[in-house]
Amino acid sequence: MRGDSLKTYKNFIGGKWTSSCSKKTFYSLNPATERPIGSFQDSSKEDLDLAVTSAEEALHSWSDTPAPKRAEILFKIVELLKKDKERLAKLEVIEMGKVYKEAAGDVQEAIDIFEYMAGEGRRLFGHTTPSELKNKFNATIRIPIGIVGIITPWNFPIAIPSWKLAPALICGNTIIFKPSSYTPLCGIELIKILNEAGLPKGVVNLLTGSGERIGNPIIRHPKIKGISFTGSVETGKFIRKNAELKKVGLELGGKNAIIIMEDANLDLALEGVLWGAFGTTGQRCTAASRVIIHEKVAKTFEKMLVNKTKKLKLGSGIMHNTDIGPLINKSAVEKVDYYVNLGISEGAKLLYGGKPGKTKGFFYYPTVFSNVKPDMRIAQEEIFGPVVAIIKIKDINEAIKVCNNIKYGLSSSIYTENMAYAFKAINKIESGITYVNASTIGAEIHLPFGGVKETGSSREAGWAGIEEFSEEKTIYIDYSGKLQKAQGIE
Ligand code: UN1
Repeated sequence: MRGDSLKTYKNFIGGKWTSSCSKKTFYSLNPATERPIGSFQDSSKEDLDLAVTSAEEALHSWSDTPAPKRAEILFKIVELLKKDKERLAKLEVIEMGKVYKEAAGDVQEAIDIFEYMAGEGRRLFGHTTPSELKNKFNATIRIPIGIVGIITPWNFPIAIPSWKLAPALICGNTIIFKPSSYTPLCGIELIKILNEAGLPKGVVNLLTGSGERIGNPIIRHPKIKGISFTGSVETGKFIRKNAELKKVGLELGGKNAIIIMEDANLDLALEGVLWGAFGTTGQRCTAASRVIIHEKVAKTFEKMLVNKTKKLKLGSGIMHNTDIGPLINKSAVEKVDYYVNLGISEGAKLLYGGKPGKTKGFFYYPTVFSNVKPDMRIAQEEIFGPVVAIIKIKDINEAIKVCNNIKYGLSSSIYTENMAYAFKAINKIESGITYVNASTIGAEIHLPFGGVKETGSSREAGWAGIEEFSEEKTIYIDYSGKLQKAQGIE
């Protein structure tokens, strides 16, 4: 029931909670119950213009505030997030669907990145380097980009916005933030905390709404100088084309593989596959959707995997015994089901799962395919659900060839006790991240995160986050008192 009792949430512009000029709203649903949890502003270009004006007004004084002072607010955000961790995690379970312990991990990532970036307030390092001339000093400093647009997905509705907001803030930018229209409430609750921590008005502005009506104008707005986006390849390509000369960061899809060699500790690999393939119901860009396994151990491993997968319990993420929460929405269930049927028609063998859950809510059984050939569409395309495809190989070279035979390049993993195999994987796999004897998921926030190929070739988090949200300015100071020409010109 879409009762009138539902709370209506507003945009945050210039430090005030504001209704959209469009006078339209939309709902966000709980994916475990299919019930709406609130109504949100369906923002328009007019709202964006107001937000940009307030971001512009705030920019001068925010970028002039010493970074260690900006950091004090970030440290306060850390404190507030820590205090509110449980409430935020529960909210995330309700709006996004992931199981509680993972939602708590998502909030923890936000805490970690705000803490890391608060520390950056006393670093924000540039470089110093000698000059080729006497009595001349050369260095670089970090300056803000200006107003930046942050457009984020629903799968990590608190962590991913934080990966972008925290560095953008410490670098002195002002922000237009559009959370996913499937998880606007998580975005709003995060911004409430930023506001409570004392961010000056206009520094962060939040607009909810669709990619088409509000994302698109953000991408094109001439006063917005940088865009950071996590989402689909299709939208990423659209942004690259339409953002013109803005500084753009893109984190796009993945089709990540776990390689299991003949010498691997199979029990360890099994835990890694279960966590990588079915954690967050397979809805991570880093999810392991392919297992590339040596033929000598494939049969044994398949049995082990099916036995464990059968025991995974579907249900609401709020129940402590749930292993697999719902998918985000109905079309996600349809998409996963489409790929499962496609896999069967392509000739892959369905070992387990392959159907939606029986109760209300967007559930899907964890699904295991074997006899998958590397070129099948289920081994090539991002499904973003709990489906794993097992591909057999004969040696390390074939494993790496198969691993690289995709358009994406985000995460990858190898299970082996053999150093030569491990280093071959590290050096030859085309991906932004390679794990050895660990799953494809679970990146830590103080290292760069991102991929190659159609994953987008950007990096965020850690020191890469600072690079993403600042410009490096080069400084030459000549104190010789005469005109000196570089390159040996007399
Ligand atoms: C994503 O899937 O978009 O490494 C991000 C991980 C998490 C982040 C995933 N820390 O799986």
